Amino acid sequence: MEEKDKNQNGQELLDVDEKGQTIPKKEEKKPAAGSETFTHVLLIFLACVLLGLYLKIFVFYKNVEKTKEYHKYKTADDMNRNIGETIIRFVKQKPKARIGLASGSTPEGLYKYLINKYEKGEVSFKDVEFFSIDGFCGLSKSDKNSYHYALTNSFLSKIDAQEKNIHLLKEEGNSIVDFEKNAEEYNALLAEKPIDLQLLSFGENGHIGFNEPNTDFDLLTHVVKLTDDKRKDKSKIFGSLEKTPEYAITQGVASVLQAKEVIAFAKGSGKAKAVNDLVNGVFTKNSPITALINHNGKVTVCTDEEAGKNVKQYNKKF
Ligand code: GLP
Repeated sequence: MEEKDKNQNGQELLDVDEKGQTIPKKEEKKPAAGSETFTHVLLIFLACVLLGLYLKIFVFYKNVEKTKEYHKYKTADDMNRNIGETIIRFVKQKPKARIGLASGSTPEGLYKYLINKYEKGEVSFKDVEFFSIDGFCGLSKSDKNSYHYALTNSFLSKIDAQEKNIHLLKEEGNSIVDFEKNAEEYNALLAEKPIDLQLLSFGENGHIGFNEPNTDFDLLTHVVKLTDDKRKDKSKIFGSLEKTPEYAITQGVASVLQAKEVIAFAKGSGKAKAVNDLVNGVFTKNSPITALINHNGKVTVCTDEEAGKNVKQYNKKF
């Protein structure tokens, strides 16, 4: 028998054809050693790609944490220090973070804390992009009653924020058409540059920005006609009712909900009811701040002892 009719062990390889005659068996072709290695490498490569994809998805979902926490501090200073340190860590981890600034008197202590840390060289904001939540309509940047002026003077001009990274709501304009154009432009800007961390103060009735109770929570940045009561209240800073703007511009509740993370904070007993509703999950159209209950990312609510006086726990998830 010829060598080709035997297998590797020397056994005969026989087969039977259609006529019933014995014929040498055709040996199955073994894949060349090279092509086997190639298949293995390909499989390992595909496994690595799949593992990488899985890890990427895992990390993505881990980063988009959905948590809601409440922290009560003995004093407003304690609260500001803790929020301040959270912001500093945030900026160190993400130097190009997009941060939405809160308005009103609540954040003043926090801004002072951050300015102090910047002056000591413990943090830099040079690549951070800054946004605002509200403003009056029809005021120039240099008007002392504009929100632009307030945020610039209380914070932005005292740190190393770069002009090109400051995107505060435009308050300028002569008519409702101008104001609405400003709001539309801001919506386009926020769509292009979503906010990573929104700092949020709120009023005693739970208003955020110029979103008063029973406002439409689905609105993005929009123009608000100020009520007579609101104008009367604001006329204290403008000197007279005539000098008080008729319109304001504000991010809507829906815009605030689009920020990836929100830190809402309050001090003083006047905010106690709004805080209690929020951290006890009482969602109500009557209090826009309670919309945070439906936020899809990370929400942290911080208060001093007084604003948190109706909440039993010092720390809780809600
Ligand atoms: C104003 C602002 C709001 C702010 C609120 C809180 O109404 N438009 O943006 O949240 O004041 O004010 P304060 O922090 O002074 O209590």
